[in-house]
Amino acid sequence: MATARCGPSIREFLEYYVLVLLDAKRRTTRELADEMESRSAENRPFRSSGVLHVGIRQMESALYRLADQGWVRLRLPGGQWGITGAGRRARREMEQKSPDASDSKQPATWKLMARLKNAARGSYVLDVGTGEGFLARKLARRGFRVLGIDSGAFDYSKDSIEKARRGARSDNGRLEFRRADVTELPRPRRGFDYVVSSQAVHCMKDPPKCLEAIYHLLKPGGRFLAVDFLVGREGFFAHGFHCFLALSREEWAELLPAIGFDDIHMYKIKNYLVVNARRPSSGRHASATASAAA
Ligand SMILES: C[S@@+](CC[C@H](N)C(=O)[O-])C[C@H]1O[C@@H](n2cnc3c(N)ncnc32)[C@H](O)[C@@H]1O
Repeated sequence: MATARCGPSIREFLEYYVLVLLDAKRRTTRELADEMESRSAENRPFRSSGVLHVGIRQMESALYRLADQGWVRLRLPGGQWGITGAGRRARREMEQKSPDASDSKQPATWKLMARLKNAARGSYVLDVGTGEGFLARKLARRGFRVLGIDSGAFDYSKDSIEKARRGARSDNGRLEFRRADVTELPRPRRGFDYVVSSQAVHCMKDPPKCLEAIYHLLKPGGRFLAVDFLVGREGFFAHGFHCFLALSREEWAELLPAIGFDDIHMYKIKNYLVVNARRPSSGRHASATASAAA
């Protein structure tokens, strides 16, 4: 059984999507929770916890919050919930007010790159889940020494590393691609100055384990920078249920310090989230797996 996801990002989506479901037909609390889960079932091949499992208590609280606003009403007998006229208007407003849902991966990537503007040329950077080298190549062109790794975990990614190598011929030896899983990559003697990741954490089978591996691959004082989907209503408008494979802001905020990262910053770039965290120069390390958020 999947664990229920919670926090403001999930709640905000839930309240919107309940209105969508009730706009189509009346449903009981249980039917709403089941429908939510079955619509996000496309995430299961990536990771079973990527399915949006909603607990009954969580669904009930969302419904009572919506009822307080006058947007839904409980119909008795039968215990079915229905949408009100005000609820329909609220739904339309949320959709109209939603910012441009076009893909904002490029601006999010620029934000990540901007965090590296003071990095020494020649810094050693690991790109985890590099795919065909989208980010690794940009960084090599900036003068960094880059290792791009990909586990080839999916059908679409099993040849990525070969394709990345073919595209990397002009990068003057600053760029290397290897097929590897981040949890099995040996640590270079002094560790990486930076570990980056573009739209890959949501693809990981076990994000907390991978983030812990990233922590150990960094040199003390090194930084982890990631771009991934924004979880919540805005993320949903752009990426559909797929956005729920990513970690929400609340989950990042819980997980990163539990692993030992500090100086954590997050930037919302439309429907993407950029995460910036440091492995302290010295200090503790706590295992995150106990409080795994994903
Ligand atoms: C959606 S692709 C992103 C590719 C590229 N970074 C981009 O932005 O276009 C995510 C990649 O992460 C890789 N991946 C998933 N889990 C991984 C792991 N544990 N170690 C290394 N790569 C992994 C997958 O094979 C996939 O190619």
